[in-house]
Amino acid sequence: MLKRITVLVSGRGSNLGALVEASRDPRYPAAVTHVVSNKRDAGGLAIARANAIATSVVEHTAHATREAFDAALAAAVDASEPDLVVLAGFMRVLTPAFVARYAGRLLNVHPSLLPAYPGLHTHRRALADGVRLAGCTVHFVTSEVDVGPIVAQAAVPVRDDDDEDSLAARVLAEEHRVLPAAVAWFCAGRIALHGARVRVQDALIPQAALVVPSPAAD
Ligand code: GAR
Repeated sequence: MLKRITVLVSGRGSNLGALVEASRDPRYPAAVTHVVSNKRDAGGLAIARANAIATSVVEHTAHATREAFDAALAAAVDASEPDLVVLAGFMRVLTPAFVARYAGRLLNVHPSLLPAYPGLHTHRRALADGVRLAGCTVHFVTSEVDVGPIVAQAAVPVRDDDDEDSLAARVLAEEHRVLPAAVAWFCAGRIALHGARVRVQDALIPQAALVVPSPAAD
């Protein structure tokens, strides 16, 4: 039986698109069955509609408190009966009550190598610090923002001529690989939590280090 994924989006929805693409493979163990957005004009909603996926809009502006918004959000998510909830560019801080409700089945994708650069403007901050490696993280959500057991990360080089847009694009391409992979592992029952650490059954762990810049081959 395919696992049911509900995806929460606030914007463009390219990670949602990557999940939908991945799930076209008949071996993929899950399907995106519902998309919820806090923004009526989110691009992610258009992607869902184009793929005949059910949608809900729960606008944070229509709720007086964070708690009221999260209660309405939880009602929409519960109605979609998900096995897994994925935050894919969902730009609202969630209350501890919401996070506890989906504990162990709530994943987030974040555009940095956590625990470096939680929060906003990750690429701008990485460039300002002159780091040589950037990347993305898929992790279980806990009540602290951008903290929680890490399922997978991808690292990319920072090039000397990078700006925020070029670095963001390089990292986003990796988000589109790592998120569908992490979701598939979860839905196939291959992820085990050991305290703060995650083990993934039958996944490859590369031996090689990514060194940036690398010594020339000559
Ligand atoms: C992605 O880069 C995602 O990692 C980031 O928002 C972007 C959404 O793009 N999420 C966060 O910053 C959450 N802390 P998308 O709408 O095209 O998937």
